[in-house]
Amino acid sequence: MQIAPGAFHFRRCLSLERQRAIADRCRELVDGAVPAYVPVVRGGGKMHVRMLCLGRHWNGKTYRYEPTRSDFDDLPAPPLPEEFRRLAGEIAASAGMSLDADLCILNYYDAEGRMGLHQDKDESAESIAAGLPVVSVSIGDTARFLFGGLKRRDPIEAMLLESGDAFVFGGPARLRYHGVSRIAPSTAPRELGFTGRFNLTFRRY
Ligand code: SIN
Ligand code: MN
Repeated sequence: MQIAPGAFHFRRCLSLERQRAIADRCRELVDGAVPAYVPVVRGGGKMHVRMLCLGRHWNGKTYRYEPTRSDFDDLPAPPLPEEFRRLAGEIAASAGMSLDADLCILNYYDAEGRMGLHQDKDESAESIAAGLPVVSVSIGDTARFLFGGLKRRDPIEAMLLESGDAFVFGGPARLRYHGVSRIAPSTAPRELGFTGRFNLTFRRY
């Protein structure tokens, strides 16, 4: 469903079976050889998520992308799994957009997880100018997602992102402010076999 020009919320668009496959892959990844970590950002504050970048690493100190995690352990960002790339393309297409993702920021939120209002604007100038969408997939606990405008002070709409939901913002919505104000603990479908929330945001650098 389109909620604003260029912004789409697809509720429960992923079957439980697909959610489970994604959750299993995310769990392997975040506790794998190149594990998720809690970034410390420019101002010195810790983020309230565990983050793992796939395909390209987003450096929380410089707000730039790089191949290896120079703000943390110098390990290379793991590749973006092919099934994830396909999933993002499929969801973008259902919003009438096209995305050949080359990176994903995978975040894990525990019951205290949150993310302040921000814009996704560290991708290449070409990608942003073309309005190539960010495709967000939510798995696990429900999040209260905030979606604002192009200016920080614009009015903000709050909505719930539930397990299996996708949210797409591209074109005129590409630079809209957004964030996560809270997680509703223990709301994940039991069948997924984990607690907390994974959010995957796919982008093209
Ligand atoms: C983000 O903006 O990077 C994450 C959004 C979300 O967790 O839904
Ligand atoms: Mn974001």
